[in-house]
Amino acid sequence: MSKKILVTGGLGFIGSHTVVALQEKGYEVVIIDNLSNSSLEVLGGITKITRISPEFENLDLRDKQAVNHFFDKYPNIEGVIHFAASKAVGESVQNPLLYYENNLNTLVYLLQQLKEREAPKFIFSSSCTVYGQADELPITESAPVKKAESPYGNTKQIGEEIISDTCKVVPHLKAISLRYFNPIGAHPSANIGELPIGTPQNLVPFITQTAAGKRDELSVFGNDYPTPDGTCIRDYIHVMDLARAHVVALERLLDDEHNGNYEVFNLGTGKGNSVLEAIKAFEKVSGQKLQYRFVDRREGDIIVAYADTTKANDVLKWKAEYTIEDAMESAWKWQQKLEEKSKSEE
Ligand code: UD1
Repeated sequence: MSKKILVTGGLGFIGSHTVVALQEKGYEVVIIDNLSNSSLEVLGGITKITRISPEFENLDLRDKQAVNHFFDKYPNIEGVIHFAASKAVGESVQNPLLYYENNLNTLVYLLQQLKEREAPKFIFSSSCTVYGQADELPITESAPVKKAESPYGNTKQIGEEIISDTCKVVPHLKAISLRYFNPIGAHPSANIGELPIGTPQNLVPFITQTAAGKRDELSVFGNDYPTPDGTCIRDYIHVMDLARAHVVALERLLDDEHNGNYEVFNLGTGKGNSVLEAIKAFEKVSGQKLQYRFVDRREGDIIVAYADTTKANDVLKWKAEYTIEDAMESAWKWQQKLEEKSKSEE
């Protein structure tokens, strides 16, 4: 019988791609999402790709009673992949309590439920933001966690601590935190992708919206960094690779292959690309010339971050397969699809 997996935030960017990857491997998926930064249409996109409609509960994980009821209703959930969280750095500075409540209370409520169950497996969405500007590159999992630059970043650090502290006293709980570098791209079918609400803060949605004519130009934040071309360097990872990594991590727990009951993995490609290289990759695959201009540095940006992927490669036996060009091509296809849709709705 197929195993039932709860995906919180399963209508979000990384969540929806992970739901597809799980269904394609035969798992039954239940999604919890409160639609705060997603849309019900994503369910249709998932169903179009996999021909399976996942179960869906419109539920806010801050509602502890509702969380408890959910677990009463679904007693046979064998694993939880927890994406549901707020993720805008600037907003977190403006509204820290929203971030602490939304990203941490919810985690506590889920873990309280899981610890009562027989053999709970838990995967947590963490971020390379926990490393800040690392002293050594590439960044390994043993690099020290630096003081967070924002409440958002802090919720990822504290979230990891909550899980690690809980695992110490709940030995039957098995958990993995996945520290993502920069997730980009979309499903190659363009049936699901990233849905930025309002002005995008992240580089790739801003690039694709600019190319589509929704934005006048891209502001490149700083060209005087101590990097070969003066722009910041990141490890851009295709969301398809990331989604697959979640399934691999979950299976490590389900198959009892884990080492200790709490592990942490970096998820990146291991390769750094500058902002200008990212723009070039986009221009190459889209055939579009991108309007951009250099402006001042953005506060809080780190200079260089890319992953040491040895642990994920060796232990999870997972390796990113897509290139930055593949990711840009899929992001552009997705953007064009969104444009067509908004035109047909006019
Ligand atoms: C950002 C967050 C990080 C979070 C991640 C989630 C900040 C400071 N960091 O990472 O905590 O985990 O998103 O996706 O917000 N850039 C431009 N012009 C733009 C947008 C971005 O030049 O309009 C540059 C940035 O300076 C950076 C690179 O593009 O060098 C990537 O930026 P972004 O996509 O926002 O990701 P991060 O800043 O790495």
